[in-house]
Amino acid sequence: MSADYAVHGSVAVITLNNPPVNGMGLVTRTAAVAGLRQAQEDPAVKAIVITGAGKAFSGGADIKEFNSPKALTEPTLHTLIRTAEDSVKPVVAAIHSVCMGGGLELSLGCNYRVALPGAQIALPEVKLGLLPGAGGTQRLPRVLGLERALNMIVSGNPVPSEKLADSALFDAVFPAGTNLIEAAVAFAEKIADVRPLPKVRERKVDYPNHEAFLQFTRNTVKTVAGPFPAPLECVETVAAAVTMKFEDGLKFERERFMHLIQTSESKSLRHAFFAEREASKVPDVPSDTPIRDIRKAAIIGAGTMGGGIAMNFANAGIPVTLLETKQEALDKGLATIRKNYESTLKKGKLTQEKMDQRLALVGGTLAYEEIADADIVIEAVFEELGVKETVFRKLDEVMKPGAILASNTSTLDVDRIAAFTRRPQDVIGTHFFSPANVMKLLEIVRGKQTGKDVLATALALSKKLKKTGVVSGVCDGFIGNRMIEQYSRQAGFLLEEGCLPEQVDKAVEKFGFAMGPFRMGDLAGNDIGWAIRKRRYVEKPEISYSKTADLLCEIGRFGQKTGGGWYDYKPGDRKAYPNEEVNAMIARHSADIGVQRRAISDEEIVQRLVYALVNEAALILEEGIALRASDIDMVYLTGYGFPLHRGGPMFYADTVGLPNVLATIEKLAKGYHGEAWTPAPLLVKLAAEGKGFNSR
Ligand code: NAI
Repeated sequence: MSADYAVHGSVAVITLNNPPVNGMGLVTRTAAVAGLRQAQEDPAVKAIVITGAGKAFSGGADIKEFNSPKALTEPTLHTLIRTAEDSVKPVVAAIHSVCMGGGLELSLGCNYRVALPGAQIALPEVKLGLLPGAGGTQRLPRVLGLERALNMIVSGNPVPSEKLADSALFDAVFPAGTNLIEAAVAFAEKIADVRPLPKVRERKVDYPNHEAFLQFTRNTVKTVAGPFPAPLECVETVAAAVTMKFEDGLKFERERFMHLIQTSESKSLRHAFFAEREASKVPDVPSDTPIRDIRKAAIIGAGTMGGGIAMNFANAGIPVTLLETKQEALDKGLATIRKNYESTLKKGKLTQEKMDQRLALVGGTLAYEEIADADIVIEAVFEELGVKETVFRKLDEVMKPGAILASNTSTLDVDRIAAFTRRPQDVIGTHFFSPANVMKLLEIVRGKQTGKDVLATALALSKKLKKTGVVSGVCDGFIGNRMIEQYSRQAGFLLEEGCLPEQVDKAVEKFGFAMGPFRMGDLAGNDIGWAIRKRRYVEKPEISYSKTADLLCEIGRFGQKTGGGWYDYKPGDRKAYPNEEVNAMIARHSADIGVQRRAISDEEIVQRLVYALVNEAALILEEGIALRASDIDMVYLTGYGFPLHRGGPMFYADTVGLPNVLATIEKLAKGYHGEAWTPAPLLVKLAAEGKGFNSR
């Protein structure tokens, strides 16, 4: 049973009891319906209260039942709501803490709703590409009015109960500290004999000139919804609450819900939702693995990354000290942090008080002794193994026993770095993305000897810092950068074969990427890739690259920081303007290497860039560098601007169908620089078995 039944005087109290948030799974629904029936039959019962045990009234549908036939097994949520709504005895929802999705829909089927202040009220379905499918779109406007209901349903954002106290959603919002059950039972006793029973479905939504308002809303929502169909569908179903009879509106809602659940956009959002939760699980590191306390942090190097990483700690309330070799560099790093906070303050996204608190948590030093008692130290110095060696030998010498020694390296071997110390079990990679105070992704690099408790601590820390932590094994570039290298190589080959930067960028941006590879290069600095390629020319001469990007760097066009790269930029404007000389240089280079330039379709551009990611990812998965396909998707969704509505590279490949992806790769293998297209064995295997990366 996951709902409890008790009788208090003449009132039956049904308590949903399905931790952690009383999700309305089949067992809970069955128990709640049974409770309602029992109360109908008990002559001693005159009224019924429904509430939730523990931390919530109800968080809504049980996410474990998503994508399973259980969600459609009787009693469905519809049946439960109808049972409450058709009860011959009054039903009172007693709401506290969290009342979302199906939980709110259930309460709307009750005759009365009473609440404690501070309860989070929401219909968040739109965030999963859906709409409230159990009457929410029809009943909420009937109690909140068209405008407020639309706002809540289209945004999915929670509103605290006290802010809705003036509406017909609540019959009472009790003062804070009230004993909810006692107050709800007293309320139920008071209204026990009132007839007829009030029903939300019998109310009308009155809105003068609703058509004009709805049209205005459609226009606004269209511009912000991007590729997602759900927000506009929410508007249409809420509109039905005004224009249709209740039963017809319910049918319409059902039909639009069933349509949305099949869309690739909703599937992608749901995939990302689960992928984020999965990413924090590591099979051989159980969830009860003890973690180390992180009360104090230190960062070595106050450059671009060091400063941003320090801000994450300060934002989470953890004191952090930056260490540099020279006072000048330290001052510069600390000044940048202050400037960043000040600009957030100016934008009104931070209060002066919060800013002062955060800045007070950030310190600086030139002496290792001063950071010796930090619980974690993150190294963010130059990307050279020699420099890292000096730093890690010093850390090994000075840091207290049990301190975690982390490196922010983006490409170097974490095992080699660990070997510079006598405590490799304490060493781990924490690869933040730039700007580190903004980007969600944190690649957590597990070395061969990294302790399980150190890994578990890093995963817990990522949550505390509000990052999405994804575990990667050790390899050159880890998950994200190793894949992006193949993408960048293809971008280079496309230039040699006939494209210009603008065409490539536009094609992938139309596909949904936040930024194409060349605009991205100009933003990050083309010199970074240049340095990596120069290293590769020596270490791995067998790998082919287009020389176009080198030519660009040779003339000093590193990107926005030098005033121009693949494109030109105007001061104070991030817009990219094509540069004729760069374009002529690209064409000249094709002639120099004897390539006859050809017209390349946008479809081919997208396939080459995205499948380059997918093919490399298949190797990463097979080698065990990534634990699961969905982890790779998380890396790309949170760190590389991969379009959310496509669910990540692996999910996208599964959607296209692996046999189709393979067929395209086999074709590309016969084309320009075909050597870059050896199909990954795992891709070949899964395609043959009719499986997907995410359903192996
Ligand atoms: P940066 O050049 O902006 O900063 C490095 C800082 O380290 C400088 O302030 C320098 O004075 C200081 N430093 C150098 N040697 C030192 C030493 N022995 N002791 C103390 N401080 C020292 O470099 P950035 O971009 O911040 O990169 C740092 C690390 O983060 C590198 O390993 C890089 O690969 C990695 N990374 C960089 C990303 C980026 O987008 N810039 C993204 C992810 C990782």
